[in-house]
Amino acid sequence: MEVFSNYIHISHNPEIASALYDECKSILDRVNLDEKYLYGKTSYFDSGAKSIIEDSQLLREFIIKNVVEYCQIVGLDIGQSKPNITDFWISDMYKHGHHDFHTHNMSHISGTFYIRVEENSSPIVFWGNDFASDPWWNLKKSSFNRFNAACWKIPVKDGMLLLWKSNIIHSVPPNESCSRLAASFNILLEC
Ligand SMILES: [Fe+2]
Repeated sequence: MEVFSNYIHISHNPEIASALYDECKSILDRVNLDEKYLYGKTSYFDSGAKSIIEDSQLLREFIIKNVVEYCQIVGLDIGQSKPNITDFWISDMYKHGHHDFHTHNMSHISGTFYIRVEENSSPIVFWGNDFASDPWWNLKKSSFNRFNAACWKIPVKDGMLLLWKSNIIHSVPPNESCSRLAASFNILLEC
C-alpha cells in the first residue's frame, strides 16, 4: 500500500517555446538587474512579462490544458471551471545563478515552461517533505526510487512544461550554462 505521494506533470511543446523566445528576451532586455536575482535577470519584480501570457493564446491554452490533465490525474474535481494563471514571470539564469530551496505561496499549482536552455543548464530539483531530517539519508540503497529518494533532479530542455503542487520544495543548483530562459507561473483552482 502506497501512501502520501506527489506528482510532477511533464509535457512538451518546443514550437511554442521557440515562438516566444524573442519576446521573452526583449522583455528581459528592458528589466533592470536586481540584487535579489544575482547572475541573471528576472521580471518577477516587474509586471511587464504578464503581456506574454495575455498575448499568447497558444501558451495559455497549452498551460491550461495540462493543468486540467494534472487535476484529472491527481483527482481534483474542478468541474467546468477554468484554472486561473495568477502570476507569470520570466527569468534568464546566467552562469553561477541558482535558486535556493523555496515553495510558492498562495497558489494551488505552480509551473515552469522552459523557453530555451543552453547545454549544461542546471536541472530543477524537487525535494521530499523529510529532506531536512531524513533518517535514511546515509543508508545504502539498492536503487533510488520514490520510497527512498530525498530528491528528484529533472533535467530541463527547450519546450518542457513542468507542473507541481505549489508547496513542494524545489531548488536550482548553480547553473553551468550562460543562459537558462524559463517562464514560471502560479495557478489558482476553483473546486
Ligand atoms: Fe520556484
